[in-house]
Amino acid sequence: MNNHRTLKEYLLDHLADHPEQRELVMIMSNMATIGETISTQTNKAGLAGILGSLGQTNIQGETIQRLDVFANELCKKYLRATEHFAAMASEEESTVVDMGNDGARAKYVIAFDPLDGSSNIDVNVSIGTIFSVHKRLFNIDRLDERQFLQKGRDQVLAGYILYGSSTVLVFSFGDGVHEFTLDHGIGEYFLSNERVMIPPVAEYYSVNEGNTVYFERKDADFIAYLRDEKKLSARYIGSLVADFHRNMIKGGVYLYPAVDKGGKGIYTGKIRLNYELKPMAFLLEQAGGLATDGEMNILDMEPTSLHERRAAILGSRDIVEEYMAR
Ligand code: AHG
Ligand code: MN
Ligand code: MN
Repeated sequence: MNNHRTLKEYLLDHLADHPEQRELVMIMSNMATIGETISTQTNKAGLAGILGSLGQTNIQGETIQRLDVFANELCKKYLRATEHFAAMASEEESTVVDMGNDGARAKYVIAFDPLDGSSNIDVNVSIGTIFSVHKRLFNIDRLDERQFLQKGRDQVLAGYILYGSSTVLVFSFGDGVHEFTLDHGIGEYFLSNERVMIPPVAEYYSVNEGNTVYFERKDADFIAYLRDEKKLSARYIGSLVADFHRNMIKGGVYLYPAVDKGGKGIYTGKIRLNYELKPMAFLLEQAGGLATDGEMNILDMEPTSLHERRAAILGSRDIVEEYMAR
């Protein structure tokens, strides 16, 4: 095990180089703990259903919760107790989460998607957790939504945990992207990729092509171009974290163009800006990739509401640049 660095060792070294980031390092460690807990629950999720089939309690008499509810409650309860956060925002909460006195002096705010890929929860397919940390704005109330409407470029920490065939944690403090893999037996994360760089040329495209009739013509054409002319291979998992991770490692692009599902000519994005797109865009830029909604770099956007949705084109530079050039 000597040549394997653990997350703890890595964070200690980071702290030695950046003593001013002490609290952020602790936050990163908190997220790793959350990831380990959700990972354990995810592995047991099928069993929970079986053992809980006679009513809503499991064999220990505990109430069984859906994984997304469990993940949200865990994030809220655990992160609140750390006292690192003045406020929290979650995909599962309509408004900013009040931290009470626990957040009174805190210097950071966090937005998260506790369980990404809900449609894959019940069918044993990869899911994830996404998080985005900003500095608290001291000139406005800490429960003011504007705490979370900061530009993606101003994130101080962002990352995700992917619960796949193994559990990996990918994060950035703004100095490169690092990947750690969880060893459940030992209960430690080990460094598996010290400086993740996305291949500059895409080999894969990930999009829900079943939506083609709802896309604007230009988007449908671009996807046909990726498939028929660029001859990219298709991979679509339906969990942003899983599709994103795959493309980051193998070289590819994730697309969720605006859709008009109401048939009224109103096209809207699906992916949430504050806790899905901003953190992914931050990681991508650190890894040499690019993220846009088609109009501008995701990191330069000024969000206007907590649960704002945008079109998303994320991945290897060649394809994202081509999309923007059109
Ligand atoms: P969530 O499960 O957190 O609501 O997010 C789902 C998102 C994203 O993870 C995924 O890429 C996309 O929705 C899938 O959407 P479709 O089922 O419409 O393809
Ligand atoms: Mn999601
Ligand atoms: Mn979710």
